Amino acid sequence: MSTQTVRPARTLQGSLTLPGDKSISHRYALLAGLAEGTTRLSNFSTGADPHSSLACMEALGATVVKKEDKTIEVTGTAGAFRQPEHSLDCGNSGSTMRMLAGLVAPHPHTFTLIGDESLTLRPMERIRKPLSQMGAEIHLTGGDGAVGGHAPMTIIGGPLTAIDFDTPIPSAQVKTAVLFAGLQAEGTTSLNESVRTRDHSEQALQAFGATLRREGNKLSIPGGQKLKAIGATVPGDLSSAAFFLCAALLFPDSNLILDSIGMNPTRAALLDVVTGLGGKIKVLNVEEHHGELIGTIQVNTVPGGFKGIEIAGALSAQVIDEIPVIAAIAPYTRDGIRIRDARELRIKESDRIALVAKNLKAMGAELTEQEDGLTIPGNQQLHGAQIDSGSDHRIAMAFSIAALRAIGDTEIQGAESAAISFPEFFTFLDLLAQR
Ligand code: S3P
Repeated sequence: MSTQTVRPARTLQGSLTLPGDKSISHRYALLAGLAEGTTRLSNFSTGADPHSSLACMEALGATVVKKEDKTIEVTGTAGAFRQPEHSLDCGNSGSTMRMLAGLVAPHPHTFTLIGDESLTLRPMERIRKPLSQMGAEIHLTGGDGAVGGHAPMTIIGGPLTAIDFDTPIPSAQVKTAVLFAGLQAEGTTSLNESVRTRDHSEQALQAFGATLRREGNKLSIPGGQKLKAIGATVPGDLSSAAFFLCAALLFPDSNLILDSIGMNPTRAALLDVVTGLGGKIKVLNVEEHHGELIGTIQVNTVPGGFKGIEIAGALSAQVIDEIPVIAAIAPYTRDGIRIRDARELRIKESDRIALVAKNLKAMGAELTEQEDGLTIPGNQQLHGAQIDSGSDHRIAMAFSIAALRAIGDTEIQGAESAAISFPEFFTFLDLLAQR
C-alpha cells in the first residue's frame, strides 16, 4: 500500500483535459463486445475499472486492441458470447459485475463472476431478483449477512422473457442490468425508476442501434435486438473533475478550465451543487456525441461566497459519487453541509459515510454521522493528518483535496487506489495546486 503526502496550496490555477468518463467507458466496452463489427473508442477511461469490463469482453470472445493514444478497438462477438474458460474477474468494479450479469444472462453458458475483497462484499441480490424473474438461474454467495447475497456469482444463462420491473433503489447499474437483458429477451421489457438515474445506458444502446422508449420515468426496450459497432469519443469524466471543482472552491482567486467534459444532464447536478456552494461556472462550446453532451467549463469563485448546502432526496442519488469530496471540503464552508438520503454510500467500494466521518475527525473536524448521511458544521480549520482511504479511490482523492487548505501536510494511505478511476489524479493535482 502506498502513501502520498499532500501539502497545502495557496490557490488552484490551470487547465486540463480529463480522461474519458468511467460510466460511459464501461457501457461502450460492454456493448461493443456484444455488437457486430469493430468499435473504435477514443479517450477511453484510463481507470482500472473500465479495463476490467474490457478484459471480461475478451474472455467472452471479443478482441480488444489498446492503442498508445488511449484509443481502444473492440471487435465484438456479433451477439454470441462464448463459454468463458475461466471466471470473469470484475476487479473492484461494481458497474462491471452488475451490468455484465444482465448482458450475459441471455446466453446459454455458465458464467462465474468474481471480484476483489471490496467487490465481494457488495450486494448483488438487487440484480439477481429481476434477472431470475426473467428466467436466468443465478446463485450468489452468502445471503444471511447485512448485505445479502454477494459474489462470487454463478449465472446459468439461457433464453429470457421480458418483465415489467419497478426499481426499488435508485441505481443506474440495476437499471442497466435489466435493459441489457431486456435487449436480448423475448418480448418488451419495461422498467420504472423511482428516481431518474444517469442515462448513459439508454444513450449508448441507441448509439449502437437499439430501439428503446422513455415516457417519464418509465423505460421500455423490445427484445431480440442486434447491435452494430460504432466510432465514439468518450467525454471527460465529470466525477473526476469534481475533485478539482471542489478544490477550486477552497480559494478566492482560483481559476480552472476543464476541456471536453461530459455534461450529460443526469450527471450535471454536481454543477448545481458547486454553484450553490459559491462557485461561478461558465460553460462554453457544448456539443453532442451519441446523445452525450460535451463542453468546456471554467470555474471561479464568488467573493465571500463559500456557503453551505443541504443534499437530500433525489439530489443525493444524482451526486452519489461526488458526496465524499463535497463532504471533505464541508468544514471550510461558511454554513456547513448536511447530507441525507445517501444510505447507498455505506455499500460502495467502502462504507463511505463511516470513512468520511473517521478521516474528517482525524483532521480535527466536528461532525455528526447519521445512518443515511452526515451533518458537518462550517467554519472549521482542518489539520494535516494520516488518512485511511480504506483502499477506496474516491476517499483517497477526496481527502487529498481537503488537505489543500489544511494546516500541515496530510498523508494519504492507500493512495494507489486512485488508479481505479483516475490514475493521473496526483500528477494533475500537482499541476493545478500552486504552492
Ligand atoms: C454507476 C452508478 C452508480 C455509481 C457508480 C457508477 C454507473 O452506482 O455510484 O459509481 O456507472 O451506472 P449505483 O447504480 O449502485 O447507484
